[in-house]
Amino acid sequence: MAELQEVQITEEKPLLPGQTPEAAKTHSVETPYGSVTFTVYGTPKPKRPAILTYHDVGLNYKSCFQPLFQFGDMQEIIQNFVRVHVDAPGMEEGAPVFPLGYQYPSLDQLADMIPCVLQYLNFSTVIGVGVGAGAYILSRYALTGLTSSIPEMILGHLFSQEELSGNSELIQKYRNIITRAPNLDNIELYWNSYNNRRDLNFERGGDITLKCPVMLVVGDQAPHEDAVVECNSKLDPTQTSFLKMADSGGQPQLTQPGKLTEAFKYFLQGMGYMASSCMTRLSRSRTASLTSAASIDGNRSRSRTLSQSSESGTLSSGPPGHTMEVSC
Ligand code: BEZ
Repeated sequence: MAELQEVQITEEKPLLPGQTPEAAKTHSVETPYGSVTFTVYGTPKPKRPAILTYHDVGLNYKSCFQPLFQFGDMQEIIQNFVRVHVDAPGMEEGAPVFPLGYQYPSLDQLADMIPCVLQYLNFSTVIGVGVGAGAYILSRYALTGLTSSIPEMILGHLFSQEELSGNSELIQKYRNIITRAPNLDNIELYWNSYNNRRDLNFERGGDITLKCPVMLVVGDQAPHEDAVVECNSKLDPTQTSFLKMADSGGQPQLTQPGKLTEAFKYFLQGMGYMASSCMTRLSRSRTASLTSAASIDGNRSRSRTLSQSSESGTLSSGPPGHTMEVSC
């Protein structure tokens, strides 16, 4: 009986006569992790994303993608798109060998270089085509910031979508501070470290939880409100004061400094650092600004809570088994 044999067939359908490969332009940009080289084929097409490729290990963009992108039938597709082919650092044709001891960027860092390429080209949307390691890098990039620039991602971390679309003076001010920061590259490094953070692994009643008094504050319209509520659920309720601030977004220290000051005073008082006579006087001086409601953690009976009530204008604080109310 004849044995079945696997035969490898390489499809050959080269460019048709008259089909010439489009001119390519190679660029390099500096990134926080070193420079990266990429080659652009074609011209940007209005309202269309760019095709962005990332090759596998042992290859570069040409050895990885040329047979596909120069395949005859492929032309009717790619002629509608500008193509950006990234070479991983040191993989571009003619790249010098890195000096001994050179720390090659991690795959996450390679992914973090992609926004620099797209910002340089002023492209905001892409269709990613990756092979092997390149597919990982593009996936990692898609997980963190496909459509936004680094400043926009950071703004989305700091403020809620409602705050950002409201575009108040405060938002404009902070957008300016971040987008025009001369140390934006450093900010990006801090941002990357934040995104690579480890879980704190708090466990209520477990070994890993904060043993010291904690005041946890979050705006009720903060972008990470859920995470702060969850954090509160994992802290020791007898040590934790949780304040969810009404009508407050991502940065209550900027938008509601008065309320936050008040809450901080009560927190300090709970630890015995401020005399109650002083507290009453300070509270009185702030009567006018305490007008909106704040919700209280569900564990009110067990936890130290700071609450603000719209009806009475009272703000209360209490260590376990002891609640103090001050009218203001
Ligand atoms: C392109 O047309 O996108 C292309 C051409 C040659 C190699 C790789 C890609």
